[in-house]
Amino acid sequence: MEFDKAVLSRRTCRDYSSETLSMGKIADILDIARFSPSSGNLQNWQFIIVRDQEKKEKIADICKGQTWMSDAQAHIVVCNKSKEVEKNYPDRGKLYATQNCAILSANIILKAADQGVGSALVGAFDEYELQKLLDIPEDAIPEMVITLGYPESLDEDQPRIDLKYLCYFESWGKKEDKKDFWPVTKHSKKLVKKASQAKTRASTKSKGLIRKAKNKLKK
Ligand SMILES: Cc1cc2nc3c(=O)[nH]c(=O)nc-3n(C[C@H](O)[C@H](O)[C@H](O)COP(=O)(O)O)c2cc1C
Repeated sequence: MEFDKAVLSRRTCRDYSSETLSMGKIADILDIARFSPSSGNLQNWQFIIVRDQEKKEKIADICKGQTWMSDAQAHIVVCNKSKEVEKNYPDRGKLYATQNCAILSANIILKAADQGVGSALVGAFDEYELQKLLDIPEDAIPEMVITLGYPESLDEDQPRIDLKYLCYFESWGKKEDKKDFWPVTKHSKKLVKKASQAKTRASTKSKGLIRKAKNKLKK
C-alpha cells in the first residue's frame, strides 16, 4: 500500500472483529516499527505483546474502563527505558525518550494500516497499575498501549486543521499566500482520495454488519 494511502485510510479503531490476528502479522508490524529513528539511536523501547483475554480485560480496566479494548486481538504495551537516554542527554533526555517511543508508536499504527489491521493508541491509563499487572520494572515506564485487530467498523473521519492554518514562513506568525505551496491540483487529488477512503470505510462497515447478522443467525 502506498504511504499516503496508509496515512489517510488509518482511523482509530474502537470496534474489532473476532478474526484472529496471527503472531506473524504482529511480528511483521513490530519488525518494521523497530527501524524508527531515536535520539543517539538508543532505541529505548521494549514491547509487551498481550493476547490473553483476561489480561486484556484488566488492561482495559486500567485504561480508565475503555471496555472496547478487550475485543482487540492484541495489546502492544510500549515501554520506555529512558535511563540511557537521560544519561546521554542530561537536559532533554527525558523528553527525547518519550518522543522516541511516540515516533515508534506512530510507525506501529501506520504499518498496521498498511497491513489492513486496525489499531488505536491509548494513552489514558494508570502507569503504576499497568506496571504491577505486567511485572514491568520501575525503570521501564509504560508509554502507550496500542490495540490491534481487524476492524468490525471504523469511526467517522476526525476533522483535520487545514494546512493553511498550520504554516508560518520564516518566522512565527508570518503568513504568505504562495501559490506553488498550495497548488490547486493537490487539493483536488485529496478530494478524490477522500471519496475512495469513504468507499473503503462504507464497505468495511457493511461487511461488519453482515458478519454480525450472520453470527446472530447462528445463535
Ligand atoms: C497520545 C495519544 C493518546 C490517545 N489516547 C487515547 C485513549 O486513551 N483512548 C482513545 O479512545 N483514543 C486515544 N487516542 C486516539 C485519538 O483520540 C485519535 O487519534 C484522534 O481523535 C484522531 O482520530 P483518528 O486517529 O481516527 O484520526 C490517543 C491518541 C494519542 C496520539
